[in-house]
Amino acid sequence: MSKACPPTIALFGAGKNIGIPIVKAFVDINSPILVIARPTSDLSALPKSNLVTVARVDTTSVSSVAGILRDNRIDVLISGVSYIKGGVDAQVAVARASRNAGVKLFLPSEFGIPTGGGTDPMPKAKSDFAEYLKSIGLPSLRIYCGQFHHSIPWLSAVDETGTFYIVGKGTTPQSYTAVSDVAGYVAHVLTTQTLSNLFDIELRIEGQRATLVELGALYSGTATVEHVQALPRKDMYYSEVREYLQNNGDRGIGSSGWDWASGTDDENRASSGNAFWSGHRWLTAKEVLRL
Ligand SMILES: NC(=O)c1ccc[n+]([C@@H]2O[C@H](COP(=O)([O-])OP(=O)(O)OC[C@H]3O[C@@H](n4cnc5c(N)ncnc54)[C@H](OP(=O)(O)O)[C@@H]3O)[C@@H](O)[C@H]2O)c1
Repeated sequence: MSKACPPTIALFGAGKNIGIPIVKAFVDINSPILVIARPTSDLSALPKSNLVTVARVDTTSVSSVAGILRDNRIDVLISGVSYIKGGVDAQVAVARASRNAGVKLFLPSEFGIPTGGGTDPMPKAKSDFAEYLKSIGLPSLRIYCGQFHHSIPWLSAVDETGTFYIVGKGTTPQSYTAVSDVAGYVAHVLTTQTLSNLFDIELRIEGQRATLVELGALYSGTATVEHVQALPRKDMYYSEVREYLQNNGDRGIGSSGWDWASGTDDENRASSGNAFWSGHRWLTAKEVLRL
């Protein structure tokens, strides 16, 4: 259903992986967005546009953040903070500020595998935060998209080593989505749906469904493919995170259709949220990686 008056949007965590692409997606549809950043945040990659306003603030101060949200009459707060760098906990003060300032909907920093009811450390931390939002009466919208296409060279260590490493079997499909599609989806959904339709739901999207073996085959002629139990060097940047994310494939949890409660994946469920962007053509990994 179309909305008469688009909601006012703010983004906390304008980092390179998802925050900046989301800002760009709003600019692309000519929609204003307020960026809430720490005094030290590097915002040099933000698009230069009069649709983008920046407020630098101590993001641990509930009253300071609430003041900015109130002054700008913000309806929706999107978080793009880093899980790896401890940003999930940093959302607590911003969530309290949002609730105090009358924000209607909070998008926590998800943008990966399904987390609702998850028991592994990363899904659990994100799931616990969603429960926290519920406990303070702030509706949430959580978006699951699997891995970003551009993460594939990092996950497999192919750019660093010339070998596409597959940790484990790599024969179970996972979800992969272009970050530009994830960001475009966020902007599209928030500007075309009635906000209350989005309260306390999880949207599952998928640009492409593929196994690691299928993705390795895209590198045919440019890199060798090797199956291993662990990445070859522990000094590789976040090697344990990459191994975890690769193993998610064999476990089934790398699919946007994964459900922690039943321990099952469902291919139709994995792309069920794509319906909110009907007619959109989702990019493939081959296109994004130019293979
Ligand atoms: N699906 C995928 O393939 C994929 C890949 C990567 C990330 N993700 C997800 O995307 C989200 C972003 O993660 P990322 O690691 O990639 O982030 P990122 O793009 O590197 O950006 C990090 C952002 O978080 C902010 N931040 C970090 N620690 C903070 C703290 N303690 N307090 C306040 N702000 C803090 C940073 O602000 P400053 O500039 O002030 O430090 C920055 O704006 C996460 O939910 C992650 O799981 C998904």
